[in-house]
Amino acid sequence: MYEWIKALHVIAVISWMAGMLYLPRLFVYHCEAEAGSQQSETFKVMERRLLKAIINPAMIVTWLAGLYLVWAGRWYWSPWFHVKLLLVLVLSAVHGFFARWVKAFAIDRNPHSRKFYRIINEVPTALMIFIVILVIVKPFS
Ligand code: HEM
Repeated sequence: MYEWIKALHVIAVISWMAGMLYLPRLFVYHCEAEAGSQQSETFKVMERRLLKAIINPAMIVTWLAGLYLVWAGRWYWSPWFHVKLLLVLVLSAVHGFFARWVKAFAIDRNPHSRKFYRIINEVPTALMIFIVILVIVKPFS
């Protein structure tokens, strides 16, 4: 059972990360589109669908499967897990900000510059690298 749930966890993680890496790219392109233009309206649909159909459900499955693994594997006192949990909470907060910006773009009230989204684009990548190293290498066991 543990291995099956771990497979589900990894599948959900891949889906979550695919969306978290792509959405800020859409924000970068969306900044260049004029409000009200056909292009801008297309980006709105793409962003909303990516968030609602992929990113949100994938995050929920990742969390549920991950918490099962913590419980079944009795990882709760392992230091690597504590650091991973911290990083995953940061990733979930970034997810929350992305959802907020999708809503802002939807009403043509984007609060940030193209450069801002280009920088933010790197945050999920950096978090993913550290999270995967923690769970595979388990450096502090
Ligand atoms: C959302 C909260 C999360 C929790 C509670 C959680 C917890 C866990 C636990 C307990 C394991 C089992 C470790 C083992 O059996 O050795 C695991 C496996 C794994 N997790 Fe997560 N995880 C979460 C999110 C993530 C994220 C965001 C990523 C990647 C960006 C990730 C990547 C992985 C990978 C690749 C494995 C498989 C490791 C292996 O087979 O050795 N997890 N996770």
